[in-house]
Amino acid sequence: MTRTSFHTLGAGLGLALVTLAPLSAQAIDWSSVPVSKKMVLLYPAQTSFEWSLTPKDHSAAQKFKEGKNCQACHIDEEEKYGVPLASGLRWEPTPIPGKRGAVPLQLQFAHDDKNFYVRAQWKDSGPSDNPKMDEEFPVKLSLLIDDGTVSYFTRAGCWAVCHDDQTGMASAKDAEREKYLAHSRTKIRRSGGGDNLKSQADLDKMLSEDQYLELWQARLKPGEPPVVVDGYILEERHENPQPAVSAESTFENGTWTAVMSRPLTGAGPHHKDIVPGKTYTIGLSLHEDFAGGRFHQVSWEFSLALDGGQADFVADKH
Ligand code: HEC
Repeated sequence: MTRTSFHTLGAGLGLALVTLAPLSAQAIDWSSVPVSKKMVLLYPAQTSFEWSLTPKDHSAAQKFKEGKNCQACHIDEEEKYGVPLASGLRWEPTPIPGKRGAVPLQLQFAHDDKNFYVRAQWKDSGPSDNPKMDEEFPVKLSLLIDDGTVSYFTRAGCWAVCHDDQTGMASAKDAEREKYLAHSRTKIRRSGGGDNLKSQADLDKMLSEDQYLELWQARLKPGEPPVVVDGYILEERHENPQPAVSAESTFENGTWTAVMSRPLTGAGPHHKDIVPGKTYTIGLSLHEDFAGGRFHQVSWEFSLALDGGQADFVADKH
């Protein structure tokens, strides 16, 4: 987006410009930032965290328990597994016609003195006759990020927040249940952690110890500025009243470009500092074609570091 069009947008939104705040993404010249190694999202159907830990459902359950992470076995297998899952061959009682099993994303990461940026580009799925689960937004790009505190997010990525009894999952029956982390429950069974919540005092303690995941979401519509929601996941999904994350997007020739950014430090409650010398884990997801809830494509777990180091993705200073 050019500076001019950003101003036009600000004028249209009046006072809202103040809260939309950063012209920050303007600070990065993306043509000078290398595209990271590829990330391909896959359609997970109803494969939950508990599913992945159950040997009769997932032959590798024991290997995972012994310490092998999901990506270590599955990188480059997104089509192999995502396509049959999306078509309804396995673990999907209600396949969506035309749902893509695998979606490649081009990713770029950068930071400057103040902010961390992630830029994603991908081809839109195109129009369909499928019913709209989300009436308003055709596309939602989401990012989970953690600094290593939640160990099974480091190991299992998005599956760490996806349980068998969440809304629309195999053991949910008709219950509505948001994303949560296993350690918020007193017990986890094959069917998930149900409503066996730990005490509020325990949950408060976990929150104070950073035992949560940050979730950023940019809700996208062609020709309009993104609506950003950020929040955190512990015993359920919480939205921060004022997002620290900002986003920009364009949709041109069937390709989406979205940039999400956030202050590196001091981003407010329920945000962890993003600093050099630490290794972070990220997971991305995409809702396309007005999809909602679990009907998204997701990534394996990927590591991220600032200014060099051993990680899948490195955000350098620009
Ligand atoms: C040791 C290697 C290994 C690890 C680690 C591993 N998997 Fe798998 N996974 C497999 C194999 C092999 C299959 C093929 C189907 C089967 O044997 O269950 C598979 C299948 C799958 C499928 C497709 C299921 C289907 O029926 O099409 C998904 C989804 C999946 N794994 C997710 C995960 C997740 C999530 C994790 C981490 C929590 C993980 N895997 C860890 C080896 C692994």
